[in-house]
Amino acid sequence: MENNRQNAADIEREIPVSEPERQYYFIERARNDLKKMEEAAGRQLSFCVTTFGCQMNARDSEKLVGILEQIGYIEEPEEEKADLVIYNTCTVRENANQRVYGRLGQLGRIKKKNPHMMIALCGCMMQEPEVVEKLKKSYRFIDLIFGTHNIYKFAELLATRMESGHMVIDIWKDTDKIVEDLPSERKYSFKSGVNIMFGCNNFCSYCIVPYVRGRERSRDPRAVIREIERLVADGVTEVMLLGQNVNSYGKTLDKPMTFAQLLREIEKIEGLERIRFMTSHPKDLSDELIEVMGQSEKICKHLHLPVQSGSTRILEKMNRRYTKEHYLELVRKIRKAVPDISLTTDIIVGFPGETEEDFQETLDVVRQVQYDSAFTFIYSKRTGTPAAAMADQVPEDVVKNRFNRLLAEVQEISVKKCSVYEGSVQTVLVETKNEHDDSFMTGRMSNNLLVHFPGDESLTGKYVDVSLDECRGFYYIGKIVKG
Ligand code: SAH
Ligand code: SF4
Ligand code: F3S
Repeated sequence: MENNRQNAADIEREIPVSEPERQYYFIERARNDLKKMEEAAGRQLSFCVTTFGCQMNARDSEKLVGILEQIGYIEEPEEEKADLVIYNTCTVRENANQRVYGRLGQLGRIKKKNPHMMIALCGCMMQEPEVVEKLKKSYRFIDLIFGTHNIYKFAELLATRMESGHMVIDIWKDTDKIVEDLPSERKYSFKSGVNIMFGCNNFCSYCIVPYVRGRERSRDPRAVIREIERLVADGVTEVMLLGQNVNSYGKTLDKPMTFAQLLREIEKIEGLERIRFMTSHPKDLSDELIEVMGQSEKICKHLHLPVQSGSTRILEKMNRRYTKEHYLELVRKIRKAVPDISLTTDIIVGFPGETEEDFQETLDVVRQVQYDSAFTFIYSKRTGTPAAAMADQVPEDVVKNRFNRLLAEVQEISVKKCSVYEGSVQTVLVETKNEHDDSFMTGRMSNNLLVHFPGDESLTGKYVDVSLDECRGFYYIGKIVKG
């Protein structure tokens, strides 16, 4: 547990106004409320947090879990059996929303059978007023709804729901606040996500994130360093620095600093072995950053650099603010500075107005760059974004056809790229027991590739050298070499 402040707060005292003290007060208060509920139920009550979407949401969920554990709830991995179910939602594409509605219907039926059950919803979907309206109208059984900007207030909102017995809804339009030093419970003991910034100012024309995550704000570098130092003291050796556009880190600080400068500071932290970050926006990827990556001992040999489209014409309509040539030039520079770097990307197919020629430009970039892997998405119309109002939405069958052709190309290249390490020995950080075979462990190479090898759980969190015996498409089977 990080920042485990033992707060013997006397809940009779005045409610603190400043944060995070206020939330520690409400954690104490919710703990009392929970005790009463447990007495009534005659058993301990449990929670289950389900996360949709990106790594930011995953990190937010760790904060929710940290708070819930301090309140005294126990974790229940199976949603159907939990007394408090929380959905931390994503709305980046329409299918993410549909999944939430589908599962909510099911939860409603389970709740009818468990009188102690509560359901809470938070995350990006909740920042859309139409969603909250729909939930209020058709999903009356939900107990608590809050958004992305006030997630730090979770303890206070939960206590309010427990004490009032009514549905509690609290959504903020935006915030410039960053609350530090709240509890959080990591999923892995040896690695952790670390937010370095929140929000996004880029307004890519297809994307809803700036509307649901608010304006870009960077955390104070001292707070970032302090958090990483604490994590390292607690056994973490790999961090993933998180932001929608990490390359513009620091621009809004009182004392501006660049992302490259922040990386230099983080590199100095003793005991930290690996640094990862995401996501990098090509328009802000600086020569300074490329230089730091080239010199660093700790920054992993992996760069996720979403291209979205290979057509300069479409990139302009997407408001990405780079051209195909600029992107390819960046790739050339980064490969020169870090020759064995793994490059991955995100690609959208079927953006409004995309022609076969535009699509061919995307395929051309894919062939030229030779991505180690690529996440491919079918364009999804998001209400309120400029692209949703654009003419020439591409017909579904055309998009599907392009998507399939792109996927085939991307996969063929990935398999080829993955296999080049066959026969070599690589250092991996051992992460988990293999899902399919108990006698195997799974480790991650610096370049983000996974290797499965015989081993036991005592290896978790350790760095071991593994020989990459056999490439199986997108991963390796190997064995530990002594050393
Ligand atoms: N901040 C990151 C991306 C965050 S969203 C960046 O700029 O790269 C993750 C990915 O979802 C995006 O890179 C994009 O490829 C995809 N995406 C975002 N909005 C989308 C939409 N409306 N339809 C389809 N894919 C979308
Ligand atoms: Fe969305 Fe663009 Fe911001 Fe990424 S940079 S979150 S794609 S608006
Ligand atoms: Fe989804 Fe929100 Fe992340 S919309 S992709 S969870 S920032």
